[in-house]
Amino acid sequence: MIVKKSAELTPTENFRYIAGTYLPRPVYLVNTVSENGTVNMGPFSYCGFISTHPPMVSVSVLRKKDGTQKDTAINLLRTGEAVLHLANSENVVGIQTVSKTLPYGESELDLSGFTLTDSQMVDVPSINEASVRLETKVHKHIELPSTDLFILEIVAFVFEDNILNDEGKVDTFALDVMAKLYGKEYTGINEVVEISSRKI
Ligand SMILES: Cc1cc2nc3c(=O)[nH]c(=O)nc-3n(C[C@H](O)[C@H](O)[C@H](O)COP(=O)(O)O)c2cc1C
Repeated sequence: MIVKKSAELTPTENFRYIAGTYLPRPVYLVNTVSENGTVNMGPFSYCGFISTHPPMVSVSVLRKKDGTQKDTAINLLRTGEAVLHLANSENVVGIQTVSKTLPYGESELDLSGFTLTDSQMVDVPSINEASVRLETKVHKHIELPSTDLFILEIVAFVFEDNILNDEGKVDTFALDVMAKLYGKEYTGINEVVEISSRKI
């Protein structure tokens, strides 16, 4: 086995080993609202499934190189609300496009080609081009050495009509999900394998 002690690694090496093994990761386009009312968008994949009752997810917003907060973190702290949109094969290129850092208050909407619609339970608008939307409110903000970690409570799941089957369950293939691998690589779900637990 090859052992790499994290304290002896550079930030780039640590990134390489986490991002290269914690995969595939769903990508969410996170919408928030800036102080001047414009909709801010950013893709995020350092996200986690935290709890079901109430339903919660986490989003890690890394600090910028100069140590300041990204617009998404600033807005989440200011308004306490965000909408997360799941990346699929049709919107993933647009989602990737908006990762560009713009001056605070300038919207990524024009870059992406996405269109906005009112959300159900939060004041942050959603985009029409996502078949799964999570409307969320901030439950907790945790300040880490180089990261703003947000625990978000999902107050509404919004699905396009084809996503739920007749039993009300999510149709895995209908999601058409595009998940992140390392660097610029993504993957879809091409095969589903059932593994039943065996009694020893
Ligand atoms: C697919 C993808 C996933 C990303 N995931 C994260 C992430 O989880 N955390 C993060 O801080 N930045 C992540 N980034 C970079 C941010 O999207 C980028 O810094 C963006 O400008 C943030 O938006 P904001 O400055 O409007 O907050 C990701 C970029 C891409 C393309």
